[in-house]
Amino acid sequence: MTDKTVNRDDAAANEAQIAVLWQEESYFKPSQSFIDQANMKDPDIRKRFGEENFPECYREYADMLTWFKPYDQVLDTSNPPFWKWFTGGKINACYNCVDRHLDKYRNKAAFIFVSEVEDEPPVAMTYQELYVRVNEMAALLRDYCGLKAGDRVTLHLPMTLDLPITMLACARLGIIHSQVFGGFSGKSAGQRIQDSGSRYLITCDAYWRSGHLIDHKEKADVAVQEAHDLGQEVDKVLVWQRYPGKYSAATPMVEGRDVFVNDLLKQYRGQRVAPEQMDAEAPLFLMYSSGTTGKPKGCQHRTGGYLAYVTGTSKWVQDIHPEDTYWCMADIGWITGHSYIVYGPLALAATSVVYEGVPTYPDMNRPWRIADQLGVNIFHTSPTAVRALRRVGPEEPIKGPQHFKHMTTVGEPIEPSAWRWYYEQIGKGQAVICDTWWQTENGGFLCSTLPALDKMKPGSAGPALPGVYPVIYDEDGNELPAGSNKAGNMCIRNPWPGIIQTIWGDDKRFVKTYFERYCKNPDSKDWRDWPYMSGDGAMEAKDGYFRILGRIDDVINVSGHRLGTKEIESACLTVPDVAEAAVVAVNDEIKGKVPEVYVSLAAGSKASSDAIVKAVNQACEDMIGKIAKPSRVHVVPDMPKTRSGKIMRRVLAAISNGRDVGDVTTLANASVVEDIRKQVQG
Ligand code: PRX
Repeated sequence: MTDKTVNRDDAAANEAQIAVLWQEESYFKPSQSFIDQANMKDPDIRKRFGEENFPECYREYADMLTWFKPYDQVLDTSNPPFWKWFTGGKINACYNCVDRHLDKYRNKAAFIFVSEVEDEPPVAMTYQELYVRVNEMAALLRDYCGLKAGDRVTLHLPMTLDLPITMLACARLGIIHSQVFGGFSGKSAGQRIQDSGSRYLITCDAYWRSGHLIDHKEKADVAVQEAHDLGQEVDKVLVWQRYPGKYSAATPMVEGRDVFVNDLLKQYRGQRVAPEQMDAEAPLFLMYSSGTTGKPKGCQHRTGGYLAYVTGTSKWVQDIHPEDTYWCMADIGWITGHSYIVYGPLALAATSVVYEGVPTYPDMNRPWRIADQLGVNIFHTSPTAVRALRRVGPEEPIKGPQHFKHMTTVGEPIEPSAWRWYYEQIGKGQAVICDTWWQTENGGFLCSTLPALDKMKPGSAGPALPGVYPVIYDEDGNELPAGSNKAGNMCIRNPWPGIIQTIWGDDKRFVKTYFERYCKNPDSKDWRDWPYMSGDGAMEAKDGYFRILGRIDDVINVSGHRLGTKEIESACLTVPDVAEAAVVAVNDEIKGKVPEVYVSLAAGSKASSDAIVKAVNQACEDMIGKIAKPSRVHVVPDMPKTRSGKIMRRVLAAISNGRDVGDVTTLANASVVEDIRKQVQG
């Protein structure tokens, strides 16, 4: 028997590991033309949302929505840290994103879908058509599937309009959707099906990715099997066809279980479904995210508070007006897409671009051609995409005639040189940039400049948003003074309407993960005693701008996607010859960070290193998805360990990043460090 125990190195919060210390940069001012048209220009806005007006200030966000029944109370703190927002209110997210725009914007495009295949022209979907499609899908979910408010449904869909249609149809009925990023493996989807208790999986046959129409249905078969093995039966798999009427996957449909959504919808043509009047606190969706332990957590978001928060921040930070053409190049399968492609922008009657494929296909200028063709003026992407798109030779013709008023980055720190390229080359020195810091658990932005009011500073996310009061703690739990320029643990002192409600089915883990460490008094009903711990390291400069330094826990941020090191290690340990696995984050020019894997083999293993590397790569892809594939796999004779037997990941990380390993004399097997260093660095 192989020992499958993974030891943890709990020396996680090591400042040297996390700090990305760029020098202080000078400011850039927003252009007057931007300021003149901005949604938020009140210089007193942060005062209006100051602590003396909390929580009542958040009425401003809630009042951007249409309520069936007004709320009685803004914030109920009777059961900390299970905050309740806008209690007594009745609301429907789908109604707010679709129905309420029909009078004024019936024939305005809600979405413009862009196929990865450049010869397929973009397809606009008006608010009226979105309304019709969402109603028909809702009728199908209700009458064919028998689903009702509070039930969970797992979606495993790529970037086509079938995804927002399905999400909105769920929201219309109060069904809790749980969309799994399309690039995740079938096994990942299966685990999420089981955890959420979904009886239906909604997927598709195929989609375009880097020039290939890839079979997505095969993942559904794996997902259903995995869910079954974990004890959750899936009754039906609903399959959208990428090209309606034509089946584009090689994997056969399973009789009696798999059905085509397009075919079923014919029975529901023209049907209308009244939007459910949901409690403000009713869960709207789950979004699974990586944490420090192996099991991804289902971040549960509420209806009223979440929708209010994403609507308010889309209006003031993204500066979306109905007449803008907005393009967030994220995937709807991540929180960014939920909040800033679907719910926030639609609540503001935006016209949004949904692009199916990879940004660099077939070449680096594709995004600028799309922007130009569709007249995009607000563009939102990740630093990884910015870095990838920058990597064109000097002979490359420059980036098209697009004219952006506003650009956003999200998901990882953006280094000042990439920021400046984005600002000068893509924004042509005219567009404002918002570097937005937040997390799956937060629902919406927590730090960013307000585009017409705050100067931009490359490398810093900016001040906290109105109504968000951060605090940074040092390792001993002391508050660092504001503007100290010292690194510590980034926390938010107060609740805000977009904050995670709980972890699905695991209230204890919710309290432990986010509140336990800095809670001042577990019996207190006062929100001031319950700061939210983000898990990020940060420092605050004198000007009140926050620089986010990265995760202080066992989470790796790859291209702005969160991966738990424990998840990857668990995947490696499914390879029979692997006895121990350790994953470390390695700096990467394009992706920010990439996972690198160290494995040691079970005694007596005869497998070749090549075979192990291949098997480890395959295991990561199968268990999690392609994004988790390690950049390098090192098969080492032994792991550096403390005397108590813990693997010293910090030492491995130093080796992988070409840094000094520091003092290793206290290790149980210090000599192995030099062997590993030689093997890795040559
Ligand atoms: O480390 C922070 C980083 O991304 C993590 C959150 O990842 P996720 O939940 O997947 O949500 C990503 C999109 C909201 C954070 O803990 N992060 C996010 N935005 C920034 C960032 N790091 C630096 N600067 C940012 N603007």
